[in-house]
Amino acid sequence: MHCYGDLVSYLSCGMILIGLGQLVHHKKTQTSYGRHMGLPPPARTVPARLAWFLQEMPALLMPLLLTLTRHKPSSTGKYLLLGTFCLHYFQRTFVYSLLTRGNPFPLGVMLPAGFFCSLNGLLQGHYLLHCAQLDNEWSADYRYKSGLLLFYIGMAINVHSDYILRNLRKPGDVVYKIPTGGLFEYVSGANYLGEIVEWFGYAVATWSLPALSFAVFSLCFIGPRAYHHHRFYQEKFKDYPKLRRALIPFVF
Ligand SMILES: NC(=O)c1ccc[n+]([C@@H]2O[C@H](COP(=O)([O-])OP(=O)(O)OC[C@H]3O[C@@H](n4cnc5c(N)ncnc54)[C@H](OP(=O)(O)O)[C@@H]3O)[C@@H](O)[C@H]2O)c1
Repeated sequence: MHCYGDLVSYLSCGMILIGLGQLVHHKKTQTSYGRHMGLPPPARTVPARLAWFLQEMPALLMPLLLTLTRHKPSSTGKYLLLGTFCLHYFQRTFVYSLLTRGNPFPLGVMLPAGFFCSLNGLLQGHYLLHCAQLDNEWSADYRYKSGLLLFYIGMAINVHSDYILRNLRKPGDVVYKIPTGGLFEYVSGANYLGEIVEWFGYAVATWSLPALSFAVFSLCFIGPRAYHHHRFYQEKFKDYPKLRRALIPFVF
């Protein structure tokens, strides 16, 4: 398959614009799932495990399917980047999704999220396999190494924080409690902070517009969500730790 360079640029710029739109829109309201689901709850919901599994799976499948198409012989570094992207979505699809104790998920949020994951998996996979000019020397570049390091630090924070959240509830529970431990001692959105670090690390490691656009989108989507979670905790718990911030330790 040849590189559809123009399409890659349009989709990347579109993702940045949608992200910025979310940032403006989410100043006051949040995407309606989890604690931000409005009342009355939506008529059509899907069990959280099934919803996360179905919506995240395409981001893993798309790059894997693209490896079956004809592509340039690739450097080890390029395959490691693709493997890194897939590792995140393998974890989200087969570990996070199947263990979550979240509330049922609105169908009206799951469907667009699944569409977004399909498009993003296609974009990142197609760019790496058919467009990126990353030769063997790239694996020695400091941007590649520091970006991957940042990605894996972010992923460790994200996975650990989601583990803490999951264990706040016993099976069947739907209540919210104050999270403690790990980066939750500093911020209310520790899992989101990890995810944002991950994708900015990935953008540095690939040094590409598609990866940067996904990092910006993630920041715009889950950054405001961390702020609204923080407000929720402050309103619900009078003893909520005063020094804890929303997303960036000691700052915001
Ligand atoms: N890259 C992106 O653009 C993007 C976008 C969205 C999500 N994500 C990632 O997807 C994962 C899940 O996102 P999310 O928005 O669902 O995160 P979240 O609101 O923090 O919730 C994560 C899970 O923990 C539960 N939970 C959260 N706070 C809790 C508390 N105080 N007490 C008890 N249970 C609690 C939630 O239950 P409820 O569902 O019942 O609230 C949910 O099952 C995160 O790792 C996030 O980074 C990434």
